[in-house]
Amino acid sequence: MNIAVIGAGYVGLITAAGLAETGQRVICVDDDLRKIEILNSGAIPFYEPGLEELVRRNRQAKRLEFISKLEDAAAECQVIFICVGTPPQESGEADLSSVELVARRISGCARGYHLVIEKSTVPVQTGRRLQKHFAIYGSSSQFQCDVASNPEFLREGSGVEDFFHPDRIVVGVESEKAATLLKEIYQPVLEQTFACPVHDDCGKRSRVPFVVTDINSAELIKHASNSFLAMKISFINMIADLCEAVGANVGKVAEALGMDERIGASFLRPGVGFGGSCFPKDLQAFVRVGEDAGCDFSLLREVERINQRRIDMVVSKIKNELWVVRGKRVGVWGLAFKPRTDDVRSAPALAVIRRLLAEGAVVQAYDPQAMEKAKAEVPGIEYCADAYAAAQGAEALLALTEWDEFLHLDLARVRQSMVRPLIFDGRNMFSRAIMSEHGFEYLDIGSGGSARKPLPDAKQG
Ligand code: UGA
Repeated sequence: MNIAVIGAGYVGLITAAGLAETGQRVICVDDDLRKIEILNSGAIPFYEPGLEELVRRNRQAKRLEFISKLEDAAAECQVIFICVGTPPQESGEADLSSVELVARRISGCARGYHLVIEKSTVPVQTGRRLQKHFAIYGSSSQFQCDVASNPEFLREGSGVEDFFHPDRIVVGVESEKAATLLKEIYQPVLEQTFACPVHDDCGKRSRVPFVVTDINSAELIKHASNSFLAMKISFINMIADLCEAVGANVGKVAEALGMDERIGASFLRPGVGFGGSCFPKDLQAFVRVGEDAGCDFSLLREVERINQRRIDMVVSKIKNELWVVRGKRVGVWGLAFKPRTDDVRSAPALAVIRRLLAEGAVVQAYDPQAMEKAKAEVPGIEYCADAYAAAQGAEALLALTEWDEFLHLDLARVRQSMVRPLIFDGRNMFSRAIMSEHGFEYLDIGSGGSARKPLPDAKQG
């Protein structure tokens, strides 16, 4: 089958390369000529483990090509995935102008039957609007079109693995034909019948559930999934604050909570809060959707508020330790919003650094992948060649992204290079015992070791 994927961003590129790997012929379109040039030169425009190799192999096999003209792809492909960006507007609402533009160009050129699939994260009822759009603007009387929703659940840093081994594939359709085409497209993934490009000995081989629903529900499943995961993180961060205040250990609390299958162990890691291009934006967009529909979404507003206050928490802990921050050298390990990506969009580390700069700190930072992108966002700091250089001469060191690399450092060397061996572990990635052994003052998140609140006095008589 010939498939067009519009948008060579994170979602589009993984989708295009993944579908090509399972045997489809894919034309990936982006109107950013520089991006197309990079892709045609055999490189990829961002860091994502395993993706470059996947793209290279499928280009060589002539199953994957990159072009800039949507019209050329639409002429050859019956199936079109829309994977363009839907960034937030000031109001929190998603900006759908790129989706609309793609729809307009499809309606201007398409002939015959097309299945147009929205994969970009969009608010519920976008599919309806697309259907209406195609009915109004379809320029040819021979143009027939089904619209479908097929939300993605790819995580940055493990997007390739998530493509091949998803927990479920959700499709929102309104015709048998659309459902059949989508099932055919995903058959190898549903049946797990492909040569796995991720694992030598592929562990996760059970059939993948194929959830067929109406378009509105599929769109809503995506926003609800991300909001629920964000809610788990804010929940555990709230519990972490309580643990610190009363002298309990959030690690143990989360471990035992997660053993209840109804709760589940994942997304209960406390820290400096969630970032990235998805959770913060999707949460805001979902709140808008809910409130516009007249529903009380204050629960999700609170999830967002708790997350924003994580930055205050970090800064106040550092200020409490350093007393006067102005002029003090602070090292930062980790800039990306999470490890295994170079993405710094809404990264908590950058928010913390901006606040420290406003307090007059001298900041020096290191990240294994994200420094180029961070430089464009936060210019006023020193970007270091490695983790040791970021610690050199510092009076506090903040670990804000849990890269594996930080777990394998020579701690004696780090300690010795610092003016004051104070480490704030914003991801609870280190062991308190090991840090103490090496002579660090160690602050983490939600450890009762630093209980602030004394027990209330027992009442007399
Ligand atoms: C998220 C979802 O997990 C994907 O399923 C979804 O497809 C994607 O958004 C999207 O909408 O495109 P992603 O943003 O790549 O994926 O990253 P996550 O692994 O979900 O992490 C998000 C943030 O939460 C990170 O800043 C991470 O550090 C933080 N986090 C995650 C925690 O603070 N604690 C946790 O326990 C888990």
